[in-house]
Order: sequence, then structure tokens, then C-alpha cells
Amino acid sequence: MKRSVTCISVLMLGASCVFVRKAKVPAAPVHEADVLTVFLTGNELGALKPCGCSSGQLGGLDRRSAILNTVPREARLIVDTGALVESDSEQDLIKFNVMVRAFDLLDYDLVNLTDRDIEMVRNLGLLDEIGSVFNVISPRQPADVAVPAKFSKRLSLNGKAALITVATFDAKSGQIEQIGELFATQPDVQTVNILILNHCDTATIAAVAQSVPTVDCLVCPADSDEPRLISDPNSRSLVFSVGRFGRKVCRLRIIPVKDELKLGFGAIPVKEALPQEPDLVQLYKDYQQFVKEANLLEKYWRLPLDNGLEYVGSKPCKPCHAYEYEKWGSKGHARAYATLERVGSQYDPECVVCHVIGIKYESGFISEQKTGHLKDVGCETCHGPGSEHIKTPGAAKTAEPKMRCLDCHTPEQSPDYAGDEQGYLEKIVHWREPNSTDDVKRKGNVKDSM
Ligand code: HEC
Ligand code: HEC
Ligand code: HEC
Ligand code: HEC
Repeated sequence: MKRSVTCISVLMLGASCVFVRKAKVPAAPVHEADVLTVFLTGNELGALKPCGCSSGQLGGLDRRSAILNTVPREARLIVDTGALVESDSEQDLIKFNVMVRAFDLLDYDLVNLTDRDIEMVRNLGLLDEIGSVFNVISPRQPADVAVPAKFSKRLSLNGKAALITVATFDAKSGQIEQIGELFATQPDVQTVNILILNHCDTATIAAVAQSVPTVDCLVCPADSDEPRLISDPNSRSLVFSVGRFGRKVCRLRIIPVKDELKLGFGAIPVKEALPQEPDLVQLYKDYQQFVKEANLLEKYWRLPLDNGLEYVGSKPCKPCHAYEYEKWGSKGHARAYATLERVGSQYDPECVVCHVIGIKYESGFISEQKTGHLKDVGCETCHGPGSEHIKTPGAAKTAEPKMRCLDCHTPEQSPDYAGDEQGYLEKIVHWREPNSTDDVKRKGNVKDSM
């Protein structure tokens, strides 16, 4: 793990970094498999781990190994179809590096690099080293990198050689006839040919199936978070997509039936109940450390507030609103920052944004050290910046309670919120009668005319 720390700290300084391929276990006696398994993931889009805001969330690189390691190395191929991160922000650069390290630890055989992935590899100065971490393929052939378009792994199935080939193809600009060349046939070798496409419409799928009958399996870009079988389960080519955010791992089982190889597709949820792999848990802690060192909170893009208003924090409200302050203080919103500290994510803007006051605005939260008074989901998160209101004791109205609970209580972070809005509102009551929750509803209705 130390290696990765130095790596990324060096990267922060703009220099390049050399990955050292970890020593692989020496060739063990060949495992006589009667079934081979290809695991496929992809479109992580930076999701290293679910946020943990609610229970039952799927995903997490640290739990993936529990699925991958159900099959011994001699009987499996592990492939990531690419799109490791979402954008080219500094945080995504850090994430990309962490994912490369994770794939190494998880013993991936192959990673398909999309255009953005190649760009990230280039930005990180890893062009020369990436191929020594795991095998890489790419549908585009950038002038300055030598990345092949296909990869094969030879395994043994029922005492016979089996060759699994994974190729990648740019279906937007390439000629479909070229695909055939990617899959060579060999006498006495059972083959399974998998093609990763960056573009899949029904016409492309049909054209590939027709002109390249040697393709057993087509992997399409994700059109949903869930992996999806697009073709009939028994058809050849089998067509599917791998989903997003690493919530499930696709499993392609290669089963010999008489003289043929049958393919079975499945998707295994990465459940919270699966054990975590310690090396990957540590890797996430390293990630939190890199995020802290990169000072991302300071660099957060902030908008000016209207009318010269400023955030003042929740404490200054206390003298005049002792009742509301005390009520609020007894509930979850007032501990939202401590929650992040508990899990070590208090320097991560992707988390902090919903657990403090006004990070998106000037005078809003920056860091515990600089703006400790703005941590937690404080009064002004909902009532708006209070600088004028406290100066004019109450005469300048606070912004009408925005009631934009949904900004933070999203389906991902707070799946129980939708459908139980009233229940959630009742739990945060900190106002005095007669402002009953019914009153809130009434007020909500006439808000526009106020
Ligand atoms: C879109 C807003 C949002 C983001 C982004 C967000 N959270 Fe949350 N978080 C919430 C909300 C809302 C809850 C309360 C959910 C509920 O009770 O329904 C919560 C609850 C939690 C809890 C559980 C608190 C408890 O003990 O009950 C943890 C832990 C947590 N968040 C950590 C994180 C981490 C770590 C991140 C970043 C990876 C993050 N959050 C990002 C909104 C967010
Ligand atoms: C800025 C983001 C944000 C907004 C806006 C927000 N919440 Fe929350 N809410 C959170 C976070 C974060 C937590 C988890 C706090 C913790 O325990 O760490 C939470 C927890 C809760 C909880 C469970 C904890 C408790 O106090 O019982 C309720 C209920 C709740 N919110 C209701 C609401 C309602 C109703 C609204 C709208 C009026 C709202 N929230 C607006 C972020 C937000
Ligand atoms: C999660 C959002 C949220 C937070 C945090 C919050 N409030 Fe509120 N507040 C509300 C809502 C919603 C209402 C009731 C809606 C209404 O009155 O329209 C309310 C009502 C009030 C009222 C009564 C409003 C009236 O018109 O009489 C006061 C006063 C108040 N809050 C002060 C505070 C103070 C002080 C804090 C911090 C100690 C705080 N609130 C924190 C959402 C919030
Ligand atoms: C110096 C005293 C004082 C302080 C400090 C103060 N308030 Fe008030 N606040 C008042 C008074 C007085 C009213 C009643 C005004 C009215 O009814 O017209 C009021 C009303 C409100 C209301 C309901 C009406 C409105 O303006 O929306 C909210 C919400 C509120 N305060 C929130 C806050 C928050 C949040 C803070 C801290 C940022 C705060 N107050 C600090 C004196 C204060």
C-alpha cells in the first residue's frame, strides 16, 4: 500500500510514477476446470464505494473480491470494460489512480480503456507503465501509445485448451468487417470470443452478428445502473451491458455441453453483507488521505450570494431562538459533520456538500479549521444566509424555508424519504406551536404569493 501512497503524492507534484507489478503467485499445477468464468465490470464512473448514507446500498471495490475470488485464477478471466471515472476533475484523477491500484489488487486480467481513460492515463503520466499493471486494450489507437485492440487468455477446460479472446472495437468509426480479423481460429482449441463495443444500436448488433459469426458475446455500453441482458439468453451472440457504479458484477459462465460451449449470463449484487478485503479497505483510507492532501474543499467552486448576504452559522441564532436551537441540536442534522468524521470523509467535497452549510457559496463552509461554525446541516442550510436577519433583530426575514429536503434526501442517499415526506418533516420539528406540520403544508401552498 505504501507504494501507492508515494505514487499518488508524487503525482500531486506533477511528476510521473512507476507502478511495479506485484509478484504473481508462481504457476500452480493446472486446475482442471469443468466450467470457466469471465467476470465483467465497467462504468464505475468514480464509484469507489457507496456513500453509506443509508443501509442496503450495493457496490464497493472492497467487497468485489469476495465475488471474484469464488473462482480460482486458473478458471477465470476478470475484465473491466472501462469508463473508470466521470470527468477530468482533480478528484477524478485521484480516483483514477486509486482504481488502477484497486484493479491490480483485485487481480484483473484486462482493462478496456475508453477515450477518457486514455486521456487520464496520459494526464497521470502513466502511458508507459499502465500495461505493466494489467493488460490493456483500447478501441482507439492513439498515436503516442501502443495499446492493442485485443487480448487472449489460454485456460484449460475439461482437459482441452480453451482460448478466451476479448477485443474492443470503435463501432462509430470502424469497419465491421475488420472485427473478424480480431478473432483468429485455432485448430484443437475451444474459443470464446468477446467483443466490447463503444456504441450499440440494434443495427450495429445485427450487423456484427451477421458479418462476424465468430463473436460469441457482445458487451454494450451501460444504459442503466443495472447490468442488462439485451439478447435472448440462448442466442449467440449473447448481448449484454455491464451496468454502472460497480453495484453488480457480471458473470459469464462457459459450460461445455457435448461438443459445444454454452454461455450463461448472470449479475451478482455486491452486497453490504459480503466481507471486505483489508487491502482495499486500506486503499480507500489512502484515497481519503489523498483527497485531504489535495485540499479539494478549498478549491471548491463557489458562487456569490445575492444581496451581499453571508452565512453566520447556527450559534448566533441561539440567543433569540433558544427553543429552536435546542430542538435542532438534539437531532441528526446537528451531527451530520461528526458522521463524516466518524467514517473519515470530512475532507471529501463529494460528501461534505450535503453534511454542512452552504459549501456551494462564498462565505459558506470551507473546512473545519477555517469555518468550523458552518459544519453540520445548520439553520442556514434551510433558512438561508442569516447575516441581515441577525443584524436587524428579525426584521429582515430569513429566506423562506426552502423545504428542499430532496436536494439531499435523494433516492440514493435517503431511499426512505420519498413517500414519507411528512414523517421526515415531523422528525425535524424544532419550531413552536402553532406551527404544526399541517401549518407547514399550508404555508408551502401559499409560498408564491408571499
Ligand atoms: C446528496 C446529499 C448527500 C451526499 C452527497 C452524501 N450524503 Fe451522507 N447523508 C445524506 C442524507 C440525506 C443522510 C440521511 C439519510 C436518511 O436518514 O434517510 C445521510 C446519512 C449519512 C450517513 C449515516 C448517518 C447515520 O448514522 O445514520 C453516513 C455515514 C453518511 N451519510 C456518509 C456520507 C459519505 C461518506 C458521503 C460521501 C461519500 C456522503 N454521506 C455523501 C446526504 C448526503
Ligand atoms: C443539506 C442537506 C440536507 C437537507 C437540505 C436536508 N437534510 Fe435531512 N439529513 C441530512 C443529513 C446529512 C442527514 C444525516 C445526519 C446524520 O445523522 O449524520 C439527515 C438526516 C435527516 C433525518 C434523520 C435524522 C433525524 O434528525 O431524525 C431526518 C428526519 C431528516 N434529515 C429530515 C429532513 C427534512 C424534513 C428536510 C427538509 C425540510 C431535510 N432533512 C433537509 C441532510 C439534509
Ligand atoms: C433541515 C432544514 C432546517 C433546519 C436545519 C432548520 N430549520 Fe427551522 N424550519 C425548517 C422548516 C421546514 C420549518 C417549518 C416551515 C415553515 O415554518 O414554513 C422551520 C421553522 C422554523 C421556525 C419557525 C418559522 C416561523 O415562521 O415561525 C424558526 C424560528 C426556525 N425554523 C429556526 C431555526 C433555527 C434557529 C435553526 C437552527 C438552530 C433551524 N431553524 C434549523 C427547516 C429547518
Ligand atoms: C437578535 C435576535 C435574533 C437572532 C440572532 C436571530 N433571529 Fe430569527 N427572528 C428574530 C425575531 C424577533 C423573529 C420574529 C420576526 C417576525 O415575526 O417578524 C425571528 C424570526 C425568525 C424566523 C421566522 C420568520 C422568518 O424570518 O423567516 C426564522 C426562520 C428565523 N428567525 C431564523 C433565524 C436564524 C436561522 C437565525 C440565525 C442565523 C436567527 N433567526 C437569528 C430574532 C432573531
